Amino acid sequence: MGKGELNFPFEYEELKPEERHEIQKLFKCPYVDYISVGPKKYKIQRRYLEEAANIYNMPLRKDDIFVLTYQRSGTTWTQELVWLLANDLNYETARAIPLLHRYPFLDIFFFFSKDWKDYCRKNISDDETALKILEQIATPVTNLLLSTPSPRMIKSHLPLSLLPPTLLDNGKVVYVARDPRDVAVSSYHHSRLFKVLDFSGTFKEFWNLFIRDLFTLTPYFEHVKEAWEKRNHPNMLFLFYENLSKDMPSVVRRVADFLGKDPSPEEMSRLRDHLSFENFRKNESVNMEDLKDCGLLAKDEKFIRKGKSGGWRDYFDEEMTQQAEKWIADNLRDTDLRFPTM
Ligand code: A3P
Repeated sequence: MGKGELNFPFEYEELKPEERHEIQKLFKCPYVDYISVGPKKYKIQRRYLEEAANIYNMPLRKDDIFVLTYQRSGTTWTQELVWLLANDLNYETARAIPLLHRYPFLDIFFFFSKDWKDYCRKNISDDETALKILEQIATPVTNLLLSTPSPRMIKSHLPLSLLPPTLLDNGKVVYVARDPRDVAVSSYHHSRLFKVLDFSGTFKEFWNLFIRDLFTLTPYFEHVKEAWEKRNHPNMLFLFYENLSKDMPSVVRRVADFLGKDPSPEEMSRLRDHLSFENFRKNESVNMEDLKDCGLLAKDEKFIRKGKSGGWRDYFDEEMTQQAEKWIADNLRDTDLRFPTM
């Protein structure tokens, strides 16, 4: 695999036909079509192949700031925090420019296959605004990033191994991890929220895909462990969603120190208020409600949803609880990674 002369060291494989069939049965959108990338076998939408080498080789700048996560781990929350600290707490601009425009999103394009436009028009929305938004997010951002003014803020759910190998020698990375049981519940709702995915199964069916590494960018633990291994690098800040949730002041302080900022107590207090779940959920610059207005999102789901730690307990039966415990224990055996909730 690779594009032109660019180096991309990983091969990809097809999923087994029965795995593809199982996935395609559960997602109503016919474009959920994964390949398995590299030695860790990350499951990624096929369209990733078009850009894999461009992403791996993207030119970096010393003042780049990446916010990286496995999806639904608190990315949006952290993006807003990082953006505000890095931009002298400019709330006006943060309100005026949607987060999506403040942070080019490296890997969103791969959810849209070649003929997404026809599919969207027929099955999702033929609203002109919706099609314009989709056009924008279906376009890879590596080109756009060449002309994005510094300091660039970049969002990605890709694991470190699929990003440029010199990333940490150049920009800064804030990585956020979250209890995988909450990530699974949140990802289940997210897969129902976005009509380009349209998950139609039960949570139990979703969970079975998730722990068998048959969902986007799983295996989950490989993703987190790659970042955990780099947690002591001076350009890496490794955070947990649960700590942000339980003790926002000290996490905000850590992020400020990492970015070389020193907000006053009053500024810290305003920032925490701005980032509170209640305010965040109403904040139109981050809550994606505009995508709902033009028909791209399901009406009965929300992007900023519950904002709780441990909400997974309402979704897991006894069998799944035990299965999760074993899965987590097996995956933590060879590492000192520990989540605050475990
Ligand atoms: P839930 O679905 O469990 O509510 P991401 O931004 O990576 O997609 O993560 C989304 C998750 O972070 C969602 O979790 C969302 O509600 C939660 N979240 C977003 N903003 C938050 C905030 N200000 N406080 C607490 N949780 C927040």
